[in-house]
Amino acid sequence: MRRWNGLIEEYKEWLPVSEATPELTLQEGNTPLIHLKNLSAEWGVNVYVKTEGSNPTGSFKDRGMVMAVAKAKEEGKTALICASTGNTSASAAAYGARAGMRTIVVIPEGKIALGKLAQAKMYGADIVEIEGNFDEALNMVREVGEGQIALVNSVNPYRLEGQKTIAFEVINQLDGQVPDYFALPVGNAGNISAAWKGFTEYQAKKGGERPTLLGVQADGAAPIVYDRVFEEPETVATAIRIGNPASWHLAKAALEESNGHIMSVTDEEILEAYKLLASRDGVFAEPASCATIAGLKKRIEAGEIEKGATVVGILTGNGLKDPETAIEVNKDEPILSKDEFTAFLKDLQEG
Ligand code: F0G
Repeated sequence: MRRWNGLIEEYKEWLPVSEATPELTLQEGNTPLIHLKNLSAEWGVNVYVKTEGSNPTGSFKDRGMVMAVAKAKEEGKTALICASTGNTSASAAAYGARAGMRTIVVIPEGKIALGKLAQAKMYGADIVEIEGNFDEALNMVREVGEGQIALVNSVNPYRLEGQKTIAFEVINQLDGQVPDYFALPVGNAGNISAAWKGFTEYQAKKGGERPTLLGVQADGAAPIVYDRVFEEPETVATAIRIGNPASWHLAKAALEESNGHIMSVTDEEILEAYKLLASRDGVFAEPASCATIAGLKKRIEAGEIEKGATVVGILTGNGLKDPETAIEVNKDEPILSKDEFTAFLKDLQEG
């Protein structure tokens, strides 16, 4: 098997890189595309999930971050800054460490998952907590990301360049087939815009179709669905707890061009999908990622996605990022004592 050389090297003909771009990689990209065998059989639709949680820091952000950090280094910047609901901060901190740059992350206090905070600390970021939400943190860093400090949120165009590679990978993994539907969670709306850019560039070069997009927001943080800013977004899926997405206009254009659909799902539906995905098909993704599954389930059950269609759902982050939610949703599940175990074993053995 050939060694994977990381995103910039593997996709350089698609990316704005040159000899002057420093080599940087943590071997991001090349994530699995897993067929959901059990749920597909139940739903009558061919569902694949792309487990972006297999990236080096456990989320899709690494695809964009490797590009943004390499270009910042190329431009002679010495520090990185971002606002984050958690995953961007983990990714920026890791690539910042690797590139020998200082990383400052601004996060909403008490609203980022434990694993993500642990990562930012371990990679040595300077962490600033604010009382406000992500949207306020982003406004703050947009003002200071200048001079020697590179702003690495998805308003940085190199982020979208890196993230567009997910489209190429999906088509390759489906042996050249473009999926009928491409579903993903929407927060700051960078990823849906990036994926669409990828499908569009691929089509321009190689022909064929583009998929129909399905964007999914949490009902308490659904500005694009309801077409209004959410001043106080709230959802259990803290990664997408965003009320005024920076790439709103790009996402809208992508949805229109693809004849796509943007919808919201409740926290209950997200948590149900979260458990379903792990317990039925053995895939553990963080709550925001499972908005994808909740949205797909709803559209399939409503007959909006036809039987036999090929669907790719993006699982944006690893389930281990947010152990607290995983424990919380299972708090009523018993853990057996030794005596209970003996009785339980006997029952099982006797069939
Ligand atoms: N899923 C996860 C796990 C995320 O962390 C994010 C965004 C999204 C989906 C939404 O992607 O913003 O491109 O629409 N997280 C950002 C962060 C905001 O700070 O980590 P988007």
